[in-house]
Amino acid sequence: MRKKAILITGAAGEIGQALVRSIKEKSDIPVVAIDLSTLPDEMRMLTVPIQGNILDEALLKRLISEFEFESIFHLAALLSTRSEFTPDEAHRVNVAGTLGLLNLAAEQSQWRGEPVKFIFPSSIAAYGMPDLETKTAYARVREWEWNYPRTMYGCNKLYCEQLGTYYAHYYRQLAAETPVMLDFRCLRFPGLISAFTVPSGGTSDYGPEMLHAAAAGKPYACFVREDVRIPFMAMPDAIKALLLLTEAPRSALKRTVFNVTSFSLSAAEFHQIVLQHFPDAQITYKPDLKRQAIVDSWPADLDDSAARRQWGWSPDYDARRAFDEYLVPNIRERYNHN
Ligand code: SER
Repeated sequence: MRKKAILITGAAGEIGQALVRSIKEKSDIPVVAIDLSTLPDEMRMLTVPIQGNILDEALLKRLISEFEFESIFHLAALLSTRSEFTPDEAHRVNVAGTLGLLNLAAEQSQWRGEPVKFIFPSSIAAYGMPDLETKTAYARVREWEWNYPRTMYGCNKLYCEQLGTYYAHYYRQLAAETPVMLDFRCLRFPGLISAFTVPSGGTSDYGPEMLHAAAAGKPYACFVREDVRIPFMAMPDAIKALLLLTEAPRSALKRTVFNVTSFSLSAAEFHQIVLQHFPDAQITYKPDLKRQAIVDSWPADLDDSAARRQWGWSPDYDARRAFDEYLVPNIRERYNHN
């Protein structure tokens, strides 16, 4: 008998670690947690930990034979900066990896006669604004606007959104018998900020890096100009969004891909808030023109009204609350700040 479980790929990443904790607080269902890296001890205790590669077909076959997945959170990906250095590998992990997981979910949906929920985080990187004038003129973009990504990661995410939608609605559409399709649900996240982990390989990383460096008492040279603006979200809201979308009744969802966001800040505004909490922070600006160009191509803000209307999304943390109540207290503790 296959054991009912939830599958999380990329479980040792920033979202994965927070998601595992949150799911285990609410439910006893086993969580199969895959990552290339070893999971932290605390997570190993909470999950069925598997150190492995999502591109390993034998591993996916083993999972199919051992478990019945009700939902799959497919978080494993190479982020935007990292992907520019290894674009082939990024394509393999971000696209071929997703295809493998979609096939697994399609097979399990068919076998159990019930759709497997496939939850996929996409990103502001799926957008590409052609220039700063356009970015200023179209501040809050909607899901179908400006889908012209400029990074390998953004292209990968946009394509996988389409692929997931295909698997949910048109997979094997010419077969004599229509298969039970999987249930694909996708969020486009802004830059995420966690109090407990530091991102690696992303291009929105200057925000969290600035904050963590200030708390650790280290100088930080921000790699974008002061006026560069993108939306951000505190990690608890990212987890809230993932779980709310997972739980939403399918009939309420009129789309498969939803923007979600919390607050939009320029690097200078981010810096000012950090200074209010850590007045000795040594933050300077040393723009890396190439990474900055990527952030310039991302929208200044997202229109998340479809998520608000269709499944009741609203963030708990605006910028003030995110820093005052979640980020700063937890980060102070992490770095033993007095
Ligand atoms: N935070 C991600 C990155 O910077 C965007 O989704 O790559």
